[in-house]
Amino acid sequence: MCGIVGVLGQHEVSPIILDALKRLEYRGYDSAGIATVNKGRLDRRRAVGKLIHLSDMLVHQPLPGRSGIGHTRWATHGGPSVANAHPHQVGRVAVVHNGIIENFRALREELAADGAVFTSQTDTETIVQLASQYLDQGMMPVQAARATLRRLDGAFALAFLFEGEEDMIICARRGSPLCIGHGEGEMYLGSDAIALAEMTNRITYLEEGDWAIVTRSGVQIFDADDRQTARPVTQINAAQARVDKSGHRHFMAKEMAEQPAVLQSAMGFYSGLDHGGVDLPAGLDFARADRLIMVACGTAYYACQVAKYWFEQFAGLPVELDIASEFRYREPVLGPQNMALFVSQSGETADTLAALRHVRPHVAQVVAVVNVPTSSIAREADLVLPIHAGPEIGVASTKAFTAQLQVLALLALRAGLERGRLGWEDYLARLGELRAAPGFVAQALDREDEIRRMTEMLAKARDVLFLGRGVMYPLALEGALKLKEISYIHAEAYAAGELKHGPIALIDKDLPVIVFAPHDALFEKTVSNMHEVMARQGRVLLISDAAGLAEAGEVPYSLQMPTVPDLIAPIVYAVPAQLIAYHTALHRGTDVDQPRNLAKSVTVE
Ligand code: M6R
Repeated sequence: MCGIVGVLGQHEVSPIILDALKRLEYRGYDSAGIATVNKGRLDRRRAVGKLIHLSDMLVHQPLPGRSGIGHTRWATHGGPSVANAHPHQVGRVAVVHNGIIENFRALREELAADGAVFTSQTDTETIVQLASQYLDQGMMPVQAARATLRRLDGAFALAFLFEGEEDMIICARRGSPLCIGHGEGEMYLGSDAIALAEMTNRITYLEEGDWAIVTRSGVQIFDADDRQTARPVTQINAAQARVDKSGHRHFMAKEMAEQPAVLQSAMGFYSGLDHGGVDLPAGLDFARADRLIMVACGTAYYACQVAKYWFEQFAGLPVELDIASEFRYREPVLGPQNMALFVSQSGETADTLAALRHVRPHVAQVVAVVNVPTSSIAREADLVLPIHAGPEIGVASTKAFTAQLQVLALLALRAGLERGRLGWEDYLARLGELRAAPGFVAQALDREDEIRRMTEMLAKARDVLFLGRGVMYPLALEGALKLKEISYIHAEAYAAGELKHGPIALIDKDLPVIVFAPHDALFEKTVSNMHEVMARQGRVLLISDAAGLAEAGEVPYSLQMPTVPDLIAPIVYAVPAQLIAYHTALHRGTDVDQPRNLAKSVTVE
């Protein structure tokens, strides 16, 4: 949830750390801070709010030093304040931390009983208090860090910086990602490789339970049992890891615009040599699976909800679908022939990861669909299908959603083939439809000006209702989520047929109702629900294709989508869902890429 950085440099490190934090700001932006060791002494600067405030502070109060650690925070324990901002420092040690220390209350009581005075409400401060106590007892920094780590329960990544130690940072990974960057006479650490992309393309990913002593000449890595261990140095594609807005006003705008190219290149990646089919990882076994369990959060969950229709329709495979944060706590019945599928853009979402660990011993196969192939979820799955969307920085997920849908469609079609429900010709025909998706998505993006004009009306609304049937129901849910998170307008989504069972009471002339209804087998039914809304003066915006709009008759607002095969309609109709949220947010002047209270990856349960 938070981002952490460490640099042992040859020059002043504050500007380097600040720059790396900018690339991690998607992980949280409640406060930020940097600590350095300069002439043997620890010093730090911390500021509430976005990184720009820390950056301004450093102009007036520079922070010299060639070794340092930095942090950008998404508040969990204790609100956004300077006192709660990282790095936390007690005596001769400072710490930055991402994750949760689950036993912090017990530790806090114990330390307070020993005389420790706490100055923040954070769980992190217990780490630094413990380390300081061990130093005061005469331990050397490495011993003190190790002894501290042994006392901590929870999931975290952290880094220690010590007074008097200008050539050492100690870091540890347990449950949250952490990587080491190798430079020329310099060393770095960061929550992800993107943070380090401007400094180096040589990265070592720490494994679960690892801790490491980093110096300018290299890194010594120890596993959870304190055995010194070697982890490979991987060469990352620095160009791909670099992120900028490429001339767009927001990352979200850039990421929406990238969708045709993303879909094209992901399809290219999976396009196989098997007579026009696709190459999926060897070992995928849909034929023997008796049930597919899909688990995810947020937008990734809605992608799974669409895919449930596909797996049932094309493969006759029973699907069970759950939100990750609920899944583990309802004692799901799992079987040895079940396949479990986890979908996550970041691959680090704590609830999804915990659900994966929960099912792993009980099912035949664990499959992950992720955007970050080095992520924890990818590492812990048996088989990984990357979606190849490239870094997604805007908090509102866009290109990852459509790319997830594409990969899930490939899987569902493959399942249909393996289970004998789809013949080879049918399978190829469906793949052909998927290959056409990038072009239709580009056409949907061309409706942006029209959408911008319509959203003037939405921007004034207090509430908005989204309706859809079949695969368009999850699309309605996704549209409502996008609108809520970036425009702060209350939005709800309902299965169109469910409207009359309660929510229809909300309809009046002030309530915009957005209806996703391509001209498919369910069109007539959705449209009759839409007429129920119009009869009660609801302000309908119908999103359909030429045939649908012609058949629907007069509606207050309409948006014409290209006519597309049913299979790819959810991918294409995702575009207006995204653009509606984006332009409504622009009209309202909200912070599109970094909406309040949110962070890009949610690494706490
Ligand atoms: O990284 P993940 O796909 O696991 O993230 C899941 C959700 O946190 C994420 O989709 C969230 O709902 C987005 N902000 C939605 O736009």
